[in-house]
Amino acid sequence: MITLGNHTWARRELVPYLEQSERVIRPANFSRHAPGRSLALGTSRDGTPVAVLNLLGSLYLDVAQGPFELVDELVAQARQHTKTILVDFHAEATSEKIALARWLDGRVTAVIGTHTHVQTADARVQPGGTAAITDAGMTGPHDSVIGVEAHLAIGRMRTGLPVRFHPAEGGVRIEGVLVECDAGGRATSCEAVRVEAG
Ligand SMILES: [Fe+2]
Repeated sequence: MITLGNHTWARRELVPYLEQSERVIRPANFSRHAPGRSLALGTSRDGTPVAVLNLLGSLYLDVAQGPFELVDELVAQARQHTKTILVDFHAEATSEKIALARWLDGRVTAVIGTHTHVQTADARVQPGGTAAITDAGMTGPHDSVIGVEAHLAIGRMRTGLPVRFHPAEGGVRIEGVLVECDAGGRATSCEAVRVEAG
């Protein structure tokens, strides 16, 4: 499954695709009139049913509803299908991400923060059995300003003039998080992953 974030609508050609796709999902707290779904239900390779949810944080992001208003209903929907539930919480503020992870502790398998592009050093399994990390990091070129050629990002910040961003190329890494869980969807380990290109 693929989760999206605040740049979901940057490519208009994705809109008809999102209307049909069951595996590419967009954050739940865009307008409810917007196309796409935000809960994906599937089956892992060993036959375990899995649900994936996608939500945006409310701080510095443009949301129609706060994530805490929606999340309980989404989790309840997912739990009708499975107890193995992954939440991608695409958000800016560490406090909001930690709060949501705590709020969902014991009800989902993992709350994985995304959006900042900077991997945090707090991968953990919480007391109730929900794995969490504030940000899984970025898969992309790290010799950059969060993926963009540094001189372009700096130029825009120094001058305030509009600059067309271009992806950088150096220092490519895969970053993410590896979560293990039991048959009841309870996390048993949570480890940040970083693989540097050779
Ligand atoms: Fe983002």
